[in-house]
Amino acid sequence: MDQTLIITGGLLLGCMLGLSWFAGSDAPYVATKSIRIKKALTEAGIKEGDIFYELGSGDGRVVTVAAQMGAEAFGIEQSWIRIFYSRYKAYKLKLKNTHFIHGNIFNQNLTKSNIVFIFLLPKGVEKLEPLLKKSLKKGSVVITQTFHFSTWKPYKKILVKDRDEPNATLGLNKVEGDFWLYRV
Ligand SMILES: C[S@@+](CC[C@H](N)C(=O)[O-])C[C@H]1O[C@@H](n2cnc3c(N)ncnc32)[C@H](O)[C@@H]1O
Repeated sequence: MDQTLIITGGLLLGCMLGLSWFAGSDAPYVATKSIRIKKALTEAGIKEGDIFYELGSGDGRVVTVAAQMGAEAFGIEQSWIRIFYSRYKAYKLKLKNTHFIHGNIFNQNLTKSNIVFIFLLPKGVEKLEPLLKKSLKKGSVVITQTFHFSTWKPYKKILVKDRDEPNATLGLNKVEGDFWLYRV
């Protein structure tokens, strides 16, 4: 009996942890493909001394690349598990210029940043627009992934070349991996 309780409790805990890995209020956890990150950041002109913010930083992979390219890189993420994992990865890579903040992206002070990366569902992207407009300095770059601002004009679009690539289609007729770059 005791053993059954322990096994059931363990299974429940495992399921809760598993589900919380994918949960997210303005987008579930779907990672940007690693091979595309460097290209997007290079096209955005990231350089040493930049202050990079990723809003909903997932497992920290984009923040990590931004830091490796010389920026002071911040990730805001609401999942504790992903924050711990991101910090662990940055520690293993001996990166001193990454900062992972647990919290809601809508309660952050973004005034320091000059490059922002977003991969959220359309509602989340639109909800962020007033905050970005209010907070960002003139000339700052915003990168959206897959879901984009409906009213902003991008100055550059990085499109997925191979439309037949497996898992490239995300529904809503959107192709995963397109990056749009805007200058505020
Ligand atoms: C689609 S994933 C993108 C992850 C990462 N940016 C990437 O490109 O690999 C969206 C992430 O945003 C997080 N997120 C969604 N809404 C959020 C909010 N209001 N505050 C903080 N994080 C949020 C989710 O937990 C998830 O990790």
